[in-house]
Amino acid sequence: MRKKIIAGNWKMNKTPAETVTLINELKPLVATDEADVVFCVPAISLTTAIEAVKGTNIQIGAQNMYFEESGAYTGEIAPNMLTSIGVKYVVIGHSERREYFAETNETVNKKVIKAFEHGITPIICCGESLTQREQGVTIDFIRQQIKVAFLTVTPDQAKIAVIAYEPIWAIGTGKVATTAQAEEVCKAIRECIDEIYDEVTAEAVRIQYGGSVTAASANELFSQSDIDGGLVGGASLKADFGKIVNYK
Ligand code: PGA
Repeated sequence: MRKKIIAGNWKMNKTPAETVTLINELKPLVATDEADVVFCVPAISLTTAIEAVKGTNIQIGAQNMYFEESGAYTGEIAPNMLTSIGVKYVVIGHSERREYFAETNETVNKKVIKAFEHGITPIICCGESLTQREQGVTIDFIRQQIKVAFLTVTPDQAKIAVIAYEPIWAIGTGKVATTAQAEEVCKAIRECIDEIYDEVTAEAVRIQYGGSVTAASANELFSQSDIDGGLVGGASLKADFGKIVNYK
């Protein structure tokens, strides 16, 4: 049985001081052993957040990371900077980073490899645009994103990877994918992992759905056989996140 993983993607929201306030508000609401709970906060709040979650079940994740060890990369954050303060997860290849910051399948792959090298679990994002869905190429597009993201990743690494399927048209729009749409793609992702690796790896990898998840939609989505939790944006900044974590 795969353990569910429910992650909040705070995006570019909350100052360090506001981060502490929100964590203190959410702490009791997300206390559970049934799912892994991760808060992906802005880089400047990582240290503060790690302090604030001490003694709780919450893990802290970053929203990005560079694929080099150190050097002349102004504005970037190296993997060992994350591990040195206790960051366990990193979101890689979110559609907003692909769209606004020129992330490609190739840079995603380099970052995924680097994250594993440093023992950070990548939450690897994929997802189609509305045009691609309307053109009927969703699965082809996602398969390409997955295949390139996992190039040279070993089976043992792939087993602990987290994949977030986030249809771009559902992100921040209030337009959640239907359960059938979400399950169809998450199943196809698992089949793709089976093709690249084997059944054992495919059964181990955790696949989240993301895109306008709310307390109202979480239960049905997370009850699908190939959906192992969610990557939650807007609703992760509210008390509602507690209901999403305790979706049952
Ligand atoms: P949303 O964002 O829940 O606000 O749609 C999800 C995400 O971008 O990870």
